[in-house]
Amino acid sequence: MALIPARTTGWFKPAVFGAALTPFAWLIWRIAVNDLGPDPAQELAISTGEWTLRFLLITLSLTPLRNITGQIAFVRIRRMLGLFALFYAAIHFAVWMSLLLGFRWFAIGEELLERPYISIGFLALLILIALGITSPKAMVRRMGRNWKRLHRLIYLAAVLAIVHLTWILRTDVGEAVLYGSILAILFGYRLYRRVGRWGKQTALR
Ligand code: HEM
Repeated sequence: MALIPARTTGWFKPAVFGAALTPFAWLIWRIAVNDLGPDPAQELAISTGEWTLRFLLITLSLTPLRNITGQIAFVRIRRMLGLFALFYAAIHFAVWMSLLLGFRWFAIGEELLERPYISIGFLALLILIALGITSPKAMVRRMGRNWKRLHRLIYLAAVLAIVHLTWILRTDVGEAVLYGSILAILFGYRLYRRVGRWGKQTALR
């Protein structure tokens, strides 16, 4: 028996939507009660950055989860969770522009061009924007095979995000190692499936 309804029109999709919005609600709450610590702007930047990365990795884990469990519901929430990654990334970027750099456009331009970890984060954001714009079903139909090719870039976005994080953490890289290992496992799984499929195809020839 399927634990999660195959048609996600029931409770599952709204429940996931609510869960994905919880970190945002929690941040709003912490702002309201003034509970962001001594450097609120930095805390907001770190927190939204971490949630962006987590949603990226969760999105990437949905296809493997479907393959392993057979639960189609996992892929039905993939687009929504990918868009949540973009949502948190947009807030992260907005926090950086407004609270950390005070909308000083020259400084923003300078940082984007001269600080490699900022350029790398920005590139990851641009990829997420491209994937977000092309995520509606009509775009999937219109782009055909190119849609799949473009959406493979989510792996590149995740790699860039890990590099961005490692660069920021510098000495204490434990967190980057953790997220990087999860990404490596997901990438390894994908490669394993590809090689398996390719092996089957050549055996049939
Ligand atoms: C997909 C895109 C991105 C992801 C996944 C991401 C992820 C992260 C993560 C996880 C952190 C927390 C590091 C820590 O734990 O200390 C962080 C911090 C930071 N990110 Fe991003 N980031 C992204 C894009 C960007 C962009 C576009 C910018 C600016 C242009 C940016 C600027 C920063 C800054 C300034 C911090 C450091 C905050 C501080 O410690 O003072 N990030 N990011």
